[in-house]
Amino acid sequence: MSAPLLAIRDLRVAYGKVEAVRGVSLTVEAGRVVTVLGANGAGKTTLLNALMGVLPATGGIRFDGRDLARLPVEERVDLGLSLIPERRELFGSMSVEDNLRLGAFRFRGRNRGDLDAMFALFPRLKERRRQLAGTLSGGERQMLAMARALMGRPRLLMLDEPSLGLAPLIVAEVMRTVARLRDEGVAVLLVEQNARAALAVADHGFVLDGGAVVLEGPSAALQADKRVIETYLGVLAADAQG
Ligand SMILES: Nc1ncnc2c1ncn2[C@@H]1O[C@H](COP(=O)(O)OP(=O)(O)OP(=O)(O)O)[C@@H](O)[C@H]1O
Ligand SMILES: [Mg+2]
Repeated sequence: MSAPLLAIRDLRVAYGKVEAVRGVSLTVEAGRVVTVLGANGAGKTTLLNALMGVLPATGGIRFDGRDLARLPVEERVDLGLSLIPERRELFGSMSVEDNLRLGAFRFRGRNRGDLDAMFALFPRLKERRRQLAGTLSGGERQMLAMARALMGRPRLLMLDEPSLGLAPLIVAEVMRTVARLRDEGVAVLLVEQNARAALAVADHGFVLDGGAVVLEGPSAALQADKRVIETYLGVLAADAQG
């Protein structure tokens, strides 16, 4: 069996004296979608920021067999990690197309094919290529944030609550895109509070509570887990599962 693309062992992150991530271990295999579920304050964003190198952490982070612990953010990006933060930071006064071009800036202009590939993946962005990013709808902004990250050709795309504030139809579209990325060989670490949407697309899931992993398993097993249903999926899912 080949080594996982990402392997985190006993990761700990503290804000001053308060530990927000308390010994998390998880792995992401190449070309898989792994979701991390958890309520507000569970430590999801803190975990992603530590993986990206924005926050200092202790414990082991290996990516493609390399120890990331002491690498700065830029080198993690060069290795193929990419994070789309919760706020989907875009350059609002720049066009859709210019935002996309900036996503490939580390290739210094040698990225001609990619823009067309992104417009094929997100036709809506093509129609709006001249529109200012700041005037896009929430769903379009999330699409642009994903497309811009993909312009950097990541091997692992980390998404922090991509469904936040989006209508169900748009959430489904975002998740379909995630599935498509997996088909193209990009691994995805999907942080979500929307357990239903995330488990529908993920191969494997982890449930974070109070900074620690309290449950993990294949998505199908989590979807059927009584604790997940009660806490994260609600009554409707419980009914549907009998
Ligand atoms: N800069 C900070 N300084 C101090 N405490 C922080 C800081 N950022 C986050 N925390 C605390 O760390 C804990 C985890 O926060 P985090 O943002 O990682 O949660 P989350 O799972 O992403 O929540 P949400 O779903 O609301 O985004 C929370 O208790 C939060 O108050
Ligand atoms: Mg968060």
